[in-house]
Amino acid sequence: MCGITGYIGHKDAAPILLKSLKRMEYRGYDSAGISTIHKDKIIIKKDIGRIDSINEKIQLGEAEGKIGVAHTRWATHGGVTKENAHPHLSCNKEVILVHNGIIENYRKLLKGLSNNHNFQSQTDSEVISHLIEEEYNKLKDPIKTLQNISKKLNGSFALIVIFSDRANEIYGVRKYAPLIVGIGENENFISSDIVSFIDYTDNVIFLEDKEIVKVTQNSIEILNFDGDKITRDKTHVAWEAADISKEEFSHHTIKEIHEQSSTVKTALNQDKEEFEKFVNELLSGKNIFITGSGSSFHIALIFKKMLTKFVKSQVQAFLSSESEEYRELMDENSILIPISQSGETADLHEVIRNLKDKGVTILSIYNTIGSSLSRVSDISLNLNCGPEIGVAATKSFTSQLAIVYKIIFELGKVKDGNEKIEELSEQIKEIISNEKSLHEIIELLNESNDVYFLGRSIHHPIALEGALKLKELAYIHAEGMAAGEIKHGTLALVEEGTPAIIINPKDESYEDTMNNAIEMKARGAKIIGISVEDNEAYDYWIKIPKVDNILYPLIELIPLQLLAYYTAIRRKNNPDYPRNLAKSVTVK
Ligand code: AGP
Ligand code: GLU
Repeated sequence: MCGITGYIGHKDAAPILLKSLKRMEYRGYDSAGISTIHKDKIIIKKDIGRIDSINEKIQLGEAEGKIGVAHTRWATHGGVTKENAHPHLSCNKEVILVHNGIIENYRKLLKGLSNNHNFQSQTDSEVISHLIEEEYNKLKDPIKTLQNISKKLNGSFALIVIFSDRANEIYGVRKYAPLIVGIGENENFISSDIVSFIDYTDNVIFLEDKEIVKVTQNSIEILNFDGDKITRDKTHVAWEAADISKEEFSHHTIKEIHEQSSTVKTALNQDKEEFEKFVNELLSGKNIFITGSGSSFHIALIFKKMLTKFVKSQVQAFLSSESEEYRELMDENSILIPISQSGETADLHEVIRNLKDKGVTILSIYNTIGSSLSRVSDISLNLNCGPEIGVAATKSFTSQLAIVYKIIFELGKVKDGNEKIEELSEQIKEIISNEKSLHEIIELLNESNDVYFLGRSIHHPIALEGALKLKELAYIHAEGMAAGEIKHGTLALVEEGTPAIIINPKDESYEDTMNNAIEMKARGAKIIGISVEDNEAYDYWIKIPKVDNILYPLIELIPLQLLAYYTAIRRKNNPDYPRNLAKSVTVK
């Protein structure tokens, strides 16, 4: 969600910052801006809309200066307007600021400011630039100023600040929002996202919460909010810039759907020792809690259903945004498994924050290298699926599922788990190669206002996931349901032609789910069956191959991803950047 970035070095900052903004587009945003300093002059360019169109209008990359900051905004406080776009200046133009996050107490802080301030925007962020200005005027010390102000701010924030009278220094502040320094040669970068500077360097330093960094062309100095100096080694990140290109595909989303035939296999490449530790810890817990948001929550649900059969402990899965009662139940005998592609989801971090002190063991599953989640976990398993750029989770979802399988195979002492996934990989390719057979169904979905996805048992989370994909990519109202629940209310909504997607491969739940499909059909629904065999109840049949029962969720999801993607294309939506959504949801 939004991105901030800064550059200081021997090159012109603006073209580099523009490229960084483009790289961070996938995170979601509604406006963007850049500010540089050249010969004591501050240049600010910002507007609403896509970066390309802003750039066409006001040439974001053409500002002069070897130092600058930039921002993609995802509005939380104040409408989507040019004035509210960042960077924000203080009244005397001494402070240039970009902010990612939310300042919860900004109204109170506003009241504490003297009456002389002139506000240009309705954002919570602008308050910070005026607060910094007041403090800096008193102290004339940037670090002390940032320490004092940061302690006053409630909420989550990553800030990048330039003091215009110190145009060879750039400052970063981090509290509950990501911030990373990129180490270049005679130049340095700072950003909320590694991808923003990966074209220039893959040597990074991850900041921790409640830290401030001072970055110059050739130096990096880290301190905590109390002023103690912090020594931190650099990390070399392995991702290549090429990983985030679309290659021959028209969108990242379809590229990522295709990649799944290989990413389900790479997910299994876990460090042997770490993996064994993860499983042993899992077995040692009296209570196991699994959490996530959106798609990652759907994995939590599947994991719970499968794990329950193998462990004696109580297993619960809950939405990170609805965690209160679960947090109270956790103690030093509990295991928490947070699942997240980005590793930065604010709701998830809210769950974890106080649990470390209670002695809860955190075993995480994540994708983004260096993300906050990996750093607060006791043991973590990486998805190894490379950066996922499309806002909709596709390959990260199936990689999460592959890791769940690996754990379940280990607990169930299944020897040929890897071979099973190898086979699955071929079957994924085959389903994708049949995408043309979905054409008629895509036409049906395109004309519909509501679509129902039904599944029982381990297929229920896939029904939820299929519906989520259709909502976020095609903008069609969709409901994922436990198949048995339709008679408890939803049948009232079924009309002639309402599409119902029935996930019913061929396992113990087959007959019951088929009955639910027939109940829907009797009320006029058009039935789309996802199954290994056809049935007269189906108006359309999407064939999937026969696999072990436990593996069906992964295979049955692929056609659902394709349906959502191609319906989005049919509707001329941009599937990579769905409206109003962000890839990394860093606000509560
Ligand atoms: C999935 O398609 C969505 N974009 C969204 O629900 C996502 O899964 C959710 O925001 C969680 O993200 P995370 O895995 O990065 O924590
Ligand atoms: N809360 C700030 C605003 O609304 C920052 C939002 C963001 O993180 O983009 O401007």
